[in-house]
Amino acid sequence: LKCVKQHLIPFRLSLEKLKEVSTRLRKDMIRGLGKHTHHRAAVKMLPTFVRATPDGTEKGDFLALDLGGTNFRVLHVRVMEEEQKMVKMDSQLCAIPQEIMLGTGEQLFDHIAACLSEFLDSQNLKGQTLPMGFTFSFPCEQKEIDKSILIRWTKGFNCSGVEGEDVVKLLKEAIHRRGDYDISSVAMVNDTVGTMMSCGYRDQTCEIGMIIGTGTNACYMEEMKNVKRVEGEDGQMCINTEWGGFGDDGSLEDILTEFDKVVDRTSINPGVHTFEKMISGMYLGEIVRLVLMKLTEKKLLFKGEVSEALRTKETFETKFISMIEDGLENAKKILTELGLTWDLVDARVVRLVCETISSRSARLCAAALATIVDRIRANRGLPHLKTTVGVDGTVYKKHPKMQLSMHFLAPDCKIKFLVSEDGSGKGAAMVTAVAQRLALQSRLLEESDGEEDEEEKVRS
Ligand code: BGC
Repeated sequence: LKCVKQHLIPFRLSLEKLKEVSTRLRKDMIRGLGKHTHHRAAVKMLPTFVRATPDGTEKGDFLALDLGGTNFRVLHVRVMEEEQKMVKMDSQLCAIPQEIMLGTGEQLFDHIAACLSEFLDSQNLKGQTLPMGFTFSFPCEQKEIDKSILIRWTKGFNCSGVEGEDVVKLLKEAIHRRGDYDISSVAMVNDTVGTMMSCGYRDQTCEIGMIIGTGTNACYMEEMKNVKRVEGEDGQMCINTEWGGFGDDGSLEDILTEFDKVVDRTSINPGVHTFEKMISGMYLGEIVRLVLMKLTEKKLLFKGEVSEALRTKETFETKFISMIEDGLENAKKILTELGLTWDLVDARVVRLVCETISSRSARLCAAALATIVDRIRANRGLPHLKTTVGVDGTVYKKHPKMQLSMHFLAPDCKIKFLVSEDGSGKGAAMVTAVAQRLALQSRLLEESDGEEDEEEKVRS
């Protein structure tokens, strides 16, 4: 066991190291926000044009689209002011087969438009044009709430002809190609923003959204005066940090292990999303598999014999990690299914490897979240901050242990975690609802300004 532990040392990050990582991220966030530094920044800090969180007066019916994992979903959502509730009226799921994930953009958007058409038919909604929110969980340069240019694909996607293009335009073109229905305005939303906004309807102190699922990312409410790339000094805007890209300029070299480097090299996007590849569900299982292979080669596991399954890329699924952490019985079952011959010590070693990899993921996320929370505190000049983080993603739900590290990494902040239910779908509806509320408020304000001017004239 001592020899095994020796091999796992590079994954064990001390509190000091995590604080260093947090300081590096703080600097990268400032670089991402800067007018002249953002184009070279690894952490992109993308403006979202979401200027407020819910205040509880939002209402209405909305359509929400959600693309980010292996499925595409369409939802009909009703926001009910009286009951302060968001209700999913109905929804439909369409799988995105791998050949579409790696095919052309046209195929992808035709598939989405077909799925949407089927849903509208089944709900008898084709005649109406409900306002629509589109949760698109990839890094996008937003020009406005309804203009969103894909910077690059992440996770398992790599469709040609979409990077550098406006996603709203591609969706509308696909719908026009069909010609059987039309849509009105579309608000583009990252899943972190959707999560923050749907949690924000339940708890109005929620100003951070975080995802630890297939990918990882976070957003938060930043002061407009610090968002140098968007005009205006007043109020706030939600920033999509895209923290998955942290380290893409080599800044995390000292904590990358040989296994992280193999995961990156053999991925469909080498050099992209370094931080994400140490943390999120798409990669954790593969890291564990590589470590197990190495320990077996060193004759520290399975009497030095690997099975065909263990030798094959991505056969060790991320969900096995939490299952194995839950109990040795699960470990034994999974090892047998992977065609391995094991003894009790092997099962214990495998469990130790799983715990090590999932704790590193949790601790790195905690360090990154601490950076954001502390930034909000400092922005407001407060000695202490109490705030709420809306979270989603299976990796978080199965490993909530990151909460423990927060206390040490952001000692001046008291953080409540609110797990979002269906956040990335319902959140898109909420973003649309808040945008409508703000538009209505500013129209009313203009009208009342106009009336005051009239009165002024009459008086003079
Ligand atoms: C994407 C983010 C997204 C995250 C979580 C990352 O790969 O770049 O935009 O929020 O995954 O889904």
